[in-house]
Amino acid sequence: MQTKPDQSSQKASTSKAMEATAMLKADHQLISTLFKEYEKAETKAAKKKIVSQICLELSIHAQIEEEIFYPGVKAVLKDKTLIPEAIVEHATLKSLIAQVEGVEPDGEMFDAKIKVLDEYVTHHVKEEQEEMFPEAKASNLDMVALGEKMHARKQALLAEQA
Ligand SMILES: [Fe+2]
Ligand SMILES: [Fe+2]
Repeated sequence: MQTKPDQSSQKASTSKAMEATAMLKADHQLISTLFKEYEKAETKAAKKKIVSQICLELSIHAQIEEEIFYPGVKAVLKDKTLIPEAIVEHATLKSLIAQVEGVEPDGEMFDAKIKVLDEYVTHHVKEEQEEMFPEAKASNLDMVALGEKMHARKQALLAEQA
């Protein structure tokens, strides 16, 4: 193996921050995958485990958006509709989460609640990715700085849960 020439910038890439919207999209993707896993799960124990992951991921994701991403976007876009609507939708998401978090997956009503949560999240994510994120990216908001702040907050929130 040859010694590489001086390329210290490559070495630092492991800690390279994700852009804010890329980080949020990765969360959306993970949550969507978890909902698909729920549909395939056959035992109560498996369902319960997946639901607790969904609730944790969704709650932390929503909190990071509300604390960091939404205020940043709202300020730079002078937005009066997209962000308030998203916050109202988060409130509905939280009430759906509260109905399934820590509850035994005991039949069709539980499955129905997960299905409705899945559909609601899909609708909310679509609006973020198709309307809010493109506007945010087109603005002069520093997406990398925002992403770094969000990443640090997420790690702190996950540590609290552990
Ligand atoms: Fe959201
Ligand atoms: Fe989101």
